[in-house]
Amino acid sequence: MSKGLFIIKPVEPQPHVDAGEPVEGSIEGEAGLRRVLTARHLVLLGIGAIIGAGIFVISGTAAANHAGPAIMISFVLAGLACAFAGLCYAEFAAMIPVSGSAYSYTYATLGEAVAWFVGWSLVLEYLFAASAVAVGWSGYASGLLGTFGIQLPEALAAAPLAYSDGQIVRTGGLINLPAVLIAMAVAWLCYVGIRQSATANAIIVAVKVIVILMFIGFGLQHVDPANWQPLIPPNEGGDRFGVMGVLRGASIVFFAYIGFDAVSTAAQEAKNPQRDMPIGIIGSLVVCTILYIIVSAVMTGMIPYAQLNTAEPVATALGPYPDLLWLKTIVQIGAVAGLSSVILVLMMGLPRILYAMARDGLLFKSLGDVHSKFRTPHKATIVVGVLASIIAALFPLGILGDLVSMGTLLAFATVCIGVLVLRYTRPDLVRPFKVPFAPVICTLGALSCLSLVVFTVVQNPTNLALIIGWTLFGFTIYFLYGYRHSKLRKQQG
Ligand code: ALA
Repeated sequence: MSKGLFIIKPVEPQPHVDAGEPVEGSIEGEAGLRRVLTARHLVLLGIGAIIGAGIFVISGTAAANHAGPAIMISFVLAGLACAFAGLCYAEFAAMIPVSGSAYSYTYATLGEAVAWFVGWSLVLEYLFAASAVAVGWSGYASGLLGTFGIQLPEALAAAPLAYSDGQIVRTGGLINLPAVLIAMAVAWLCYVGIRQSATANAIIVAVKVIVILMFIGFGLQHVDPANWQPLIPPNEGGDRFGVMGVLRGASIVFFAYIGFDAVSTAAQEAKNPQRDMPIGIIGSLVVCTILYIIVSAVMTGMIPYAQLNTAEPVATALGPYPDLLWLKTIVQIGAVAGLSSVILVLMMGLPRILYAMARDGLLFKSLGDVHSKFRTPHKATIVVGVLASIIAALFPLGILGDLVSMGTLLAFATVCIGVLVLRYTRPDLVRPFKVPFAPVICTLGALSCLSLVVFTVVQNPTNLALIIGWTLFGFTIYFLYGYRHSKLRKQQG
């Protein structure tokens, strides 16, 4: 049995792929998805998924409670871990351009059980991150409607449950309707086509990047370098400031980088994946890292960091400057746009991972069906849309940020290890993109991701219980269904 658990799906050298051709990716070699995405689409998809709640919502708390002005350093540290992982993703995505992302790469290197674990971690990442960002979207959208004099009844704009002092409590709300509506609208867009989704994403990305550039341009004029002193405030115990605070800040703002990996789930729909996947993954990561570091520097330079402890820190930083009040509403519009595209790209990604798992027999077969007209994994999209709407409608999501990050970090670490393993087990494979100094970069990538996981767990043991619970739940499904229906195991007798 243990041998069967680590059964490896052989990787075949990939033929060069051009638009419209299917690619040898699944066991049957039949893809079905439509190849329409260019390098530009892919970079925009990455930026679409990356810039969202991380910078617009949670960066302020990380600065005010943990890192102070050194939140800039936290962004650099989290960005470094992502850069290592991003290079590894790029090597895999160009070599194995299929929709399953880290799940498929792991199946080809570390075997089925580890692949299941990674696939299940990706479900955690994409589903809960999309739901969490939908809830963040609801908050910003309600605020924006409020500035135009439209008030939603409170019962319809809040989850019925909240998390307070370790307890689940009732809030008096009934349902977070705006969060449900955005999740359903986005699921519909994903259902009708990848090209429509990519076009909508490109428009939204343009809006949010312009807004961020405006914030930087106008905000810079009000930066007072005295606000950056001391850069790292002295430690006040635990993870409040000092070096520990900077590290905790890095583990929190890691959430802001989540999403560049979603680019790889579109590999099966890229026109020229061998060339364009590395451009999409690394290009989007570089642009966002630069923007994050500058925005956090401007934010903490405009007002004392302690005042940034709000749900809209970018807008808060503009507060004391009457000449910039007009920019506040524009920032809110940028945030609503930004959060929409994060939900969109994450909701595009997850059905494609489920599709790959179903095509391998590890999940129910119908999740691998492709719509005859729209050529999207429509049934998996409906399932993801419904689940994300339910979670966004009902649940308190404060605690889920760490959980989402841990699932993602575990997947990233596995990808880094997988690249190294495949370098030794299959040196013959054609690698259109190669991680430079692979032994160093892959090891640093795995270590930095795993240390961020350890850091998250040590600071909050509840996180350990949650991630173990999630993993056990996943393996129960695997042994009840996936293990018995695995196509690869059936083929290999
Ligand atoms: N990186 C995404 C965000 O910040 C998940 O919202």
